[in-house]
Amino acid sequence: MAQCTELWIDRNDYRNTRIVSSAVPVPKEGEVLVAIDRFGLTSNNVSYAVSGDMIGYWGYYPADGDWGKVPVWGCANVVASNCAEVPVGERLWGFFPMASHAILQPGKVRDDQFLDVAEHRKALPAMYNGYRRTGAEPDFLQAMEIERCLLFPLFATSWLIYDYLADNDFFGAKQVLIGSVSSKTGFGLAQMLHRDPQVTQRIVGLTSAGNVAFVERLGCCDQVVVYGEESGIDATLPAAYVDMSGDSGLTTTLHNLLGENMVESAMVGATHWEQRGDTGTLPGARPTFFFAPAQIAKRDAEWGPGVAMMKAMTASAEVAKIAQAELEVEWIRDPQALASVWNDLLDNKVSPNRGLMVSLL
Ligand SMILES: NC(=O)c1ccc[n+]([C@@H]2O[C@H](COP(=O)([O-])OP(=O)(O)OC[C@H]3O[C@@H](n4cnc5c(N)ncnc54)[C@H](OP(=O)(O)O)[C@@H]3O)[C@@H](O)[C@H]2O)c1
Repeated sequence: MAQCTELWIDRNDYRNTRIVSSAVPVPKEGEVLVAIDRFGLTSNNVSYAVSGDMIGYWGYYPADGDWGKVPVWGCANVVASNCAEVPVGERLWGFFPMASHAILQPGKVRDDQFLDVAEHRKALPAMYNGYRRTGAEPDFLQAMEIERCLLFPLFATSWLIYDYLADNDFFGAKQVLIGSVSSKTGFGLAQMLHRDPQVTQRIVGLTSAGNVAFVERLGCCDQVVVYGEESGIDATLPAAYVDMSGDSGLTTTLHNLLGENMVESAMVGATHWEQRGDTGTLPGARPTFFFAPAQIAKRDAEWGPGVAMMKAMTASAEVAKIAQAELEVEWIRDPQALASVWNDLLDNKVSPNRGLMVSLL
């Protein structure tokens, strides 16, 4: 009998993992069974664990007791269906567990997408309940499955931050400081700012010494600053700080350096997840959490539903083409290797040029 393989994470100790094998579940009335043949793995997935209780990421695919299933972006085929509107053979892109199979409960089915309407998901952030039926999409998107798993969810956020900054006239900033710029979300933003001839702000990327060469090869920063050498930043220029690192020490250093010239401070991520902490009151703009779905909702209200996401997808596809030259896709095909690379992500042992793709099927 076919087996379902999953990787569970201890919600109290993310380094502790458990490989779980069970019989492939049978879809009940209204449900479909999907076989997940590929998903991407980046620091963003670590952040899903770190903010799992605060935002609700553990709730999409509940596990037992203190264990959790970290969600990932992937592609899957419907391999058994008890839902007439979503037949066997459908190709999907969306939010899955780190697993070979999963059960979904489609509702609000359209030609191009459906929502998972399972009861346990109703109170969770809605955008993660959407599944794209990719057969209805343009050919160029269908040909970019790896990029969609590995890059698009991050570059879409990069685009939303780019849009947020432009929408607010950069809050008067003359430079944009990007924390953890070697992250996909970070260099995606740098690339989008760099490519826009209307953007006159300097782009300053902050990264570790070991990742400087990677960032320089991308060619999208006017200045690359190594952690610890922040005094090299021109503090006389008003700055907008966009932080993917979540490193409270770095935030404190930059705010103290810039003072009232820190005109915007957006907290986006936490790649330095073990360096998080309370910064207390800092000079300049108050650091504020940037939640991508909120900017989508604002633009949906202004532009009509789906327009912002289509712009984000188009920009993501363009930046993905540029980034491909610097990224090496690497396939992980067994759960033990996945557990190992998950720990490498937690321990900062995955260099930014590695694009981790996983299949547990
Ligand atoms: N708020 C939102 O809506 C939203 C949406 C998307 C993404 N994000 C966040 O953006 C962040 C970046 O995600 P990503 O998937 O783009 O990252 P990624 O490409 O996997 O980032 C890799 C980089 O992160 C740093 N890093 C990774 N693991 C680390 C560790 N254990 N300790 C210290 N540094 C580490 C290193 O950069 P440096 O050396 O340059 O620091 C590394 O080169 C995540 O925290 C993610 O959750 C937030």
